[in-house]
Amino acid sequence: MNFKGRNIVSITDLSREEIEYILKVAKDMRPFHDGGKVSKSLEGKILATFFFEPSTRTRLSFETAMFRLGGNVIGFSDISATSVKKGETLADTIRMGDAYADAVVLRHPNEGSARLAAQFSTKPVINGGDGAGQHPTQTLLDLFTIQSEKGNIDGNHIALVGDLKYGRTVHSLAEALMHFDVKLTFVAPKQLQMPKEVVEHVRASGLELDVCDDLGKVADVADILYVTRIQKERFVDVEEYRKVANIFRVDMELLESTKDDLVIMHPLPRVDEIAPEVDKSQKAAYFRQANNGVLVRMALLQLVLTGVGL
Ligand code: NCD
Repeated sequence: MNFKGRNIVSITDLSREEIEYILKVAKDMRPFHDGGKVSKSLEGKILATFFFEPSTRTRLSFETAMFRLGGNVIGFSDISATSVKKGETLADTIRMGDAYADAVVLRHPNEGSARLAAQFSTKPVINGGDGAGQHPTQTLLDLFTIQSEKGNIDGNHIALVGDLKYGRTVHSLAEALMHFDVKLTFVAPKQLQMPKEVVEHVRASGLELDVCDDLGKVADVADILYVTRIQKERFVDVEEYRKVANIFRVDMELLESTKDDLVIMHPLPRVDEIAPEVDKSQKAAYFRQANNGVLVRMALLQLVLTGVGL
């Protein structure tokens, strides 16, 4: 298995074996993140982070990952301070990442932008989210979290909840889960349900899949609730957003009926879909999930830039 120089554009580019290998390398990264061990394996390497959309976790965890392994980072998170403001194309901006750095992480509002960027870069391009398309590195940390919270990915009933239409994290996660033996339920109001192609793809894979709009019905039988934010910025009509803005809320009352070992995940940022009181519950795994982002991104950078784990 060789990842050196590979683009990470879509989770569908990775096999189950490759995903499991990345998760194993991520697990080995823990002492290097926690300070128990030190590695300079990426010394002399430069990562470019080109963020055309807001980000907290994805950008900062990539940067932390690079620094933890002795590498350096250049980039931007505000396009108004770049030549994009002067009308520079994505292709030309990417050419500069290619020239100045050893790999590029790109977040961009257009679906397909990471695939396009990979055509203009000789260095690996990592998709940090392309519009309502894909978010493969989030999926890797989601799978890592399921594995570390539950011991196994196989055997779980996983409910994806919220904005399944525009949410890129759930698109990637649903595609990845097709490699595993899980039961899926897609919980969303009709107008925000999972794109038809994804539903058909999951069904064709032979996984057991339910589609519904009632969180209450699935909350007491699910092993994992993967809750997402309604993606306000992707709505063309703000009135349409208002109709669904507060449609689901995970609160202490809902938790009462859930399994004792339920795991609640969320890619974050959360808005109102999980009540702050839930944070105290052992079931709330979303901050542990976000912390896992550093380990998984350390593993990815290590593999893409050197080809071998630590
Ligand atoms: C997600 C994203 O950007 O798609 N955030 C993240 O990377 N953790 C989820 C979201 O914005 O709702």
